[in-house]
Amino acid sequence: MNFNLKSPSSYREWREYFLFRYNILRKPIGLHRSTIRDKLEKISYHVMAVNNKEEIIGVGRLHFVNTKESQIRYMAVDKNFRKKGVGNAIVHKLEMHSINTHRNKIILNARENAVIFYSKLGYVNFGKIDVGIDIKHFQMKKNLKNYPSKNE
Ligand SMILES: CC(C)(COP(=O)(O)OP(=O)(O)OC[C@H]1O[C@@H](n2cnc3c(N)ncnc32)[C@H](O)[C@@H]1OP(=O)(O)O)[C@@H](O)C(=O)NCCC(=O)NCCS
Repeated sequence: MNFNLKSPSSYREWREYFLFRYNILRKPIGLHRSTIRDKLEKISYHVMAVNNKEEIIGVGRLHFVNTKESQIRYMAVDKNFRKKGVGNAIVHKLEMHSINTHRNKIILNARENAVIFYSKLGYVNFGKIDVGIDIKHFQMKKNLKNYPSKNE
């Protein structure tokens, strides 16, 4: 499948990026538009996948937890483009950014439906975690030194 990965840059891209995130991760569970962003957006690394019509088909974000660890949040791929490697490619790009900024560990809180996806990418399940919304989440971690990404 053909797609490109980039960070949003224009006003229109940022608007579409956040709207995409909202439509896939927040709207279906009845959460308000105000939950679309958090306080870390400005200091995070954002990746979006766009198809040949420049439409967004997937997004993901990485922020630093401390000097050794990063966290992935807001991974979402359009329903029509799932299981085609888009999510894998976004995670890989986020991982590369983490390595390049000297954070060799990644943590994330995976929705139950995404646990197999992250397991396939080398993330280890550390058990259930409460993230304050009514969807079961599991904390998962990956040591980038020990578990090189699939695309490498
Ligand atoms: C989870 C999600 C981001 C995965 O994106 P994707 O583009 O479909 O993933 P990929 O195609 O890159 O999949 C990589 C591997 O995981 C597998 N996989 C992906 N989703 C899976 C699922 N729901 N169940 C089982 N395996 C899955 C793929 O089959 C592929 O395996 P393979 O390498 O053996 O072929 C996407 O399903 C999604 O947006 N879900 C809804 C939002 C969500 O829950 N986000 C996560 C929040 S924590």
